[in-house]
Amino acid sequence: MIPLKRRKVSQTVNQPNQTCKFPHVSIFILERKMGSTRRAFLTRLGRSKGFLITDTYSSSITHVVSENNTGDDVQTWIDNQTGQESSSSVHLLGIIWFTESMEAGQPVPVEDRHILKEALELLAENAEYSDNEGRSVAFRRAASVLKALPYRVQTMDQLKCLPCLGEHSQRVIKEILEDGTSSEVESTRHSEQFQAMKALTGIFGVGVKTADRWFREGLRSPSDLICTGQQLNRAQQAGLQFYDDLNKHVTKAEADMISEIVKEAVSAVLPGAEIQLMGGFRRGKEVGHDVDFLITHPEEGREEGLMPKIINWLEGRNLLLYQKWTRNSYLEKLDGPARPANNMDRFERCFSIFKLDRPAEATGSEGVRSSDQSEASSWRAVRVDLVVSPYSQFAFATLGWTGSKLFERELRRWAGQEKRMSLSSHALYDSNQRCYVRVQSEEEIFAYLGLEFIPPCERNA
Ligand code: CTP
Ligand code: MN
Ligand code: MN
Repeated sequence: MIPLKRRKVSQTVNQPNQTCKFPHVSIFILERKMGSTRRAFLTRLGRSKGFLITDTYSSSITHVVSENNTGDDVQTWIDNQTGQESSSSVHLLGIIWFTESMEAGQPVPVEDRHILKEALELLAENAEYSDNEGRSVAFRRAASVLKALPYRVQTMDQLKCLPCLGEHSQRVIKEILEDGTSSEVESTRHSEQFQAMKALTGIFGVGVKTADRWFREGLRSPSDLICTGQQLNRAQQAGLQFYDDLNKHVTKAEADMISEIVKEAVSAVLPGAEIQLMGGFRRGKEVGHDVDFLITHPEEGREEGLMPKIINWLEGRNLLLYQKWTRNSYLEKLDGPARPANNMDRFERCFSIFKLDRPAEATGSEGVRSSDQSEASSWRAVRVDLVVSPYSQFAFATLGWTGSKLFERELRRWAGQEKRMSLSSHALYDSNQRCYVRVQSEEEIFAYLGLEFIPPCERNA
């Protein structure tokens, strides 16, 4: 049984012991709808970066961070704590402010754009659950534009000249600027369908189509799957089994530990192979939902058949909880320059779940105790993607697997519409010259596309 609804225990989160770098920002993280495990995780993360995070609510708090609550919910909670109408000087913030501050390594200014961005991202998520990709991308673009704004949005006039803000997004923004919340966003957030789809697609191996079918059959949560004895494939079984761990962020420190393991495995089975950390961590993010790696070998051909050897090595050491391996199926001559509609590449790959030992001090010796099993365990499950690329495609694969997904989408659109070129994770085809472009580095790809090089940390769009 999955401890989705955990027993409520008194908070024994460790007291601040790291040096506090930002004493003027006093943060309280609301456990309501977040859960004690995640709250404890975020607290540790914040403290390790020098943030002042307080376990109990008091009048000295300047920033309240919550997840999946409305502003009104949080305000009511605070009023109950203090027994009075709290002063309006407290910032009520969603988790985005917190993660952005973690990424920045310092508290980022509180701006309306956080609220606006969260609202639009929620609508994007909801559109994904309805399998409406166009609509989802439109909301994501709008959110991304707001995120990039250097100024505070106070009036609709300020948005007039911005790209990517469609009529629908503008309507939502207008409502929030005028009333503080948007009725559409709030009713979506609280709708049974949205919450069920979020919970069900949160299971590794469950996509929108499956979740939607289950929803229509009356299922609402992972525990419903167990109760009703649903037929599950291997990925979904693992997803359910490790649900808590896989829904917990992976930290940079954990990604580094996984890196060491992957390096050891690869160098044992193919000396001279090169390994690169990809995805969000290459873009400099502090947390991610998984860890991505790209592997190659300077002598083209040596990388063939590499994945089964890596998997064997890892399984021999009991480091894998789940793996699904797919062969390389890319052939330039057969595939041609046209990209597949879903942008999926065809590299040899392995979607896996690692069993990562926790360092001794994280498992309880410092007096941190939590109610649930996963926190006290000596290991945790971590999603890991391994991809093998032939050396000649390595630059394209690097660009394609660095992300973000929105950035990739914009780049490919730019290539097609502005340059009449077709960019994939395997190749760049120039329709003007009718030939493939050969490159050694990401820099050359940007140059071919007529763009200045954009470093990974600026690809978080
Ligand atoms: N990617 C891909 N094909 C897939 C899955 C992912 O090409 N089947 C690419 C995505 O386009 C993205 C990168 O791999 O650029 C990383 O994907 P993912 O791990 O899903 O996202 P991250 O940006 O790493 O975000 P997170 O930190 O949440 O993992
Ligand atoms: Mn990733
Ligand atoms: Mn990934």
